Amino acid sequence: VRPKVVICRDLGPAMPLLMDRTDIEVVLWPENRGCERAWLLENIKGAAGVLVLLPDTVNAELLEAAGPSLRVVSTMSVGYEHIDMPLMAQRKIRVGYTPDVLTEAVADLSVMLALMAGRNDGAAYTLVKDGDWPKFNWSPFTFCGPQLSTTASSPTRTVGFLGFGRIAQATLTRLVPFGITHCIYSGSPRAAPDTARDAALRAKHTLAALERVDIDRLARESDVLFVLTPGGDETYHLVDAAFLRKMKPLSVLVNTSRGTVVDSDALATALREKWIWGAGLDVVEGEPKIGKDHPLAKEPRCVIVPHIGSATFQTRMDMATRAIDNLVGGVFGTEMPAELGGGRKL
Ligand code: GLV
Ligand code: GLV
Repeated sequence: VRPKVVICRDLGPAMPLLMDRTDIEVVLWPENRGCERAWLLENIKGAAGVLVLLPDTVNAELLEAAGPSLRVVSTMSVGYEHIDMPLMAQRKIRVGYTPDVLTEAVADLSVMLALMAGRNDGAAYTLVKDGDWPKFNWSPFTFCGPQLSTTASSPTRTVGFLGFGRIAQATLTRLVPFGITHCIYSGSPRAAPDTARDAALRAKHTLAALERVDIDRLARESDVLFVLTPGGDETYHLVDAAFLRKMKPLSVLVNTSRGTVVDSDALATALREKWIWGAGLDVVEGEPKIGKDHPLAKEPRCVIVPHIGSATFQTRMDMATRAIDNLVGGVFGTEMPAELGGGRKL
């Protein structure tokens, strides 16, 4: 019999990669919305593999429903906090994810949000879309904000990264042409400093400094701070009121990783009371339940987009392809292009 795989979401133009295969039976959640838990629990029975997205929790309940046939969980995401990894290790279920292919797209969006938040683009854009441009009283300093690029009159700029993995480094590369002079970052306390890599990066980008610092200095010295850590308990609310209070009044915070890293209430207060200048968010704690009355949605210098960091045609196709390749590899016990827990650097 052909092994069965369950696919939790229509993968659009990538679907033929699955449907054209004659060696697997594909069971696809038929609707264009998040997969219902009850449907998944019923259909996963006897499956060899499942392809999930961020909202699909992979836990003991799901494994019980699947039974002993389940060999692989493939998530179309780089993050995996929806998957109980210790349990997967214990049950010897392989896990695939989609790193690397989304690095450039998320770095692009990170820079976009830094620019938008700094330059008041949320409020400025809303003004035009609301039809208020004719009433708008232009004056030399309206809608002004801190400039990302350096100028002759303002020749230094420090960019900070909370988490300095692939996406952070790709973001730094994009910022170099803006004349960024200093780069500081804080990494996982478990990761040893990589001074050779840092020296090489500093030389390559001709920065005055590239330095791993503690979280206190990161808060105090960053002009623009990018949050690019994984989510989960270890990074929960690393950016809290105490952190935000240390930041520069004209600094900008960008979060394109996980909402849980930033305390939303503290950030709303920081914006309202001008501890910091602005924020650009692709992720918010509690998403997608972020209505227009959410404290952050109400802040004019907070630009929010709904978790679209990897949403380009190219990247989503690459992610879907990788997720399918991981799934098939796991089902047939062969190589998976990106397998978690195989000693891969996260
Ligand atoms: C997006 O947030 C992902 O984890 O891929
Ligand atoms: C801006 O549009 C300028 O002309 O300075």
